[in-house]
Amino acid sequence: MRPGADVGIRGFATFPAAMSTAPNSPADNPLREGLTARPQPKPCTVVIFGATGDLTMRKLLPALYNLAADGDLPPSTAIVGFARREKTDEAFRTEMETAVRKFSRQTVRDELWNTFGKSISYNQSEFHDDEGYKRLAEKLDQIDAERGTGGRRLYYLSVAPDQFGLIIERLKKFGLDKGKDGGWARVIVEKPFGTNLESALKLNSVVAHAFEESAIYRIDHFLGKETAQNIMVLRFANAIFEPIWNNRYIDHVQLLAGETLGVENRAGYYETSGALRDMIQNHLIQLLTLTAMEPPTSLEADAVRDEKVKVLRSLRRMNSNQEVAANVIRGQYIDGAILGKAVPAYRAEPNVNPKSETATYVAMRIFVDNWRWAGVPFYVRSGKRLPKSGAEIAVHFKPAPSVLFNQSGDSSNVLLIRIQPDEGISLRMQAKLPGGALRIEPVKMDFQYGASFGRPSPEAYERLILDAMQGDATLFARNDEVEEAWKFVDSILNAWEKPAKDQPPLTTYPAGSPGPVEADEMLARDGRAWRRI
Ligand code: BG6
Repeated sequence: MRPGADVGIRGFATFPAAMSTAPNSPADNPLREGLTARPQPKPCTVVIFGATGDLTMRKLLPALYNLAADGDLPPSTAIVGFARREKTDEAFRTEMETAVRKFSRQTVRDELWNTFGKSISYNQSEFHDDEGYKRLAEKLDQIDAERGTGGRRLYYLSVAPDQFGLIIERLKKFGLDKGKDGGWARVIVEKPFGTNLESALKLNSVVAHAFEESAIYRIDHFLGKETAQNIMVLRFANAIFEPIWNNRYIDHVQLLAGETLGVENRAGYYETSGALRDMIQNHLIQLLTLTAMEPPTSLEADAVRDEKVKVLRSLRRMNSNQEVAANVIRGQYIDGAILGKAVPAYRAEPNVNPKSETATYVAMRIFVDNWRWAGVPFYVRSGKRLPKSGAEIAVHFKPAPSVLFNQSGDSSNVLLIRIQPDEGISLRMQAKLPGGALRIEPVKMDFQYGASFGRPSPEAYERLILDAMQGDATLFARNDEVEEAWKFVDSILNAWEKPAKDQPPLTTYPAGSPGPVEADEMLARDGRAWRRI
């Protein structure tokens, strides 16, 4: 048994041999290596707008470096930072080196950095300044000529959404919205993709002004997480799950994305966002669609996304305050302790309004009104300052008839997909305790990525940037997906944004606790309980 590997279940034993594959390295196993290898994409130039921001340093440059280190990036790939601050190529490179050394998944190798670092350059400009785009166009032509990047351009918009319009318009004005000499131009767009349906529609039309839908990659980094990608494989590459993946056998599903972190230094953004927009509208609803969707006709991006959209259209809307109050609990953390260390209330965090009504926690009961899922609740939770960080999907099956074994407590089978940390999948089942008496205890069959495949999973951004270079949009949200998700979320926001006296209340929970008691009561009304965090 791995200590602390599961939650809420006593007396687990594990059957390592039953489910895990031999813990040899991929290098020992050419077949497994062959299965994961993909051809390198053609070299391109990656232009990062907002290149001096946190995301570039923590995620984007480390991801590009790791792709290079794993041999997934053609060595002639070039990176251009585009941002407002004045600095030289050299200064930008040095900052990126410091960031990559700090945040990279793999230790930086000096000889690789020497060549990788040379591929990085900087283009200082305001986002509205035509001159900056003229210089960018010249730079891109020069890179194509020197490095053989073939007129292929991947733009990464790591900027606030109100800057999208300025950038997109100028890319178009200077002909940068198209590839050159048979190349292509694609754009990766960071969240938040709108704050409601109306703003999402506007953003979609702004980006569509210059780029075809097939060239727009709306990133949701949860979809790049290894275990999220494995949901489809688990469901459709195994014969045993799909026949029981429906309301005849499944009692309910729980989805969780919790963090011990508070709002940190992001109050400016978070105050207008809150947990519903920040985590549920995108990450958790995306995981829900992968769990609930019908088998797609192929693995083509649009075939998969068509099925996800059908799920989104089937989400039962909440049309009144009463429905919202009965199905959605929102909470805000008050002071408490995380791992024994006292932490302040959300309202006392830097730059947070001391009377803030922003929810840092949301729990909800969602119904997918279609043939497969009629009557099966999906309970979704996300919060900051919870006791543990982690994301998981737990599929709770209906219990066996208690004709032969009179079991106390919850004896149902639970298939747990651990998105992070300890990525893996486990199945809770009942087994007889050794000995004369007939005693039944829950045990677990456990598959762990680390142990089975002998190497750490790549970071989500690595996979997603590589996919965009390959032209594979499967793990990115299409415009109609984003819009349908907002339609559902808007029905809740409408109730929350009513005059204070008519709103469903904002509850509180101490930092370090699993959430407001009202969320427990919501499940108790259904005769169920949350998994322990
Ligand atoms: C981001 C949210 O999208 O996801 C953050 O804006 C959150 O508030 C983060 O902390 C969680 O992602 P991860 O990969 O760290 O679990």
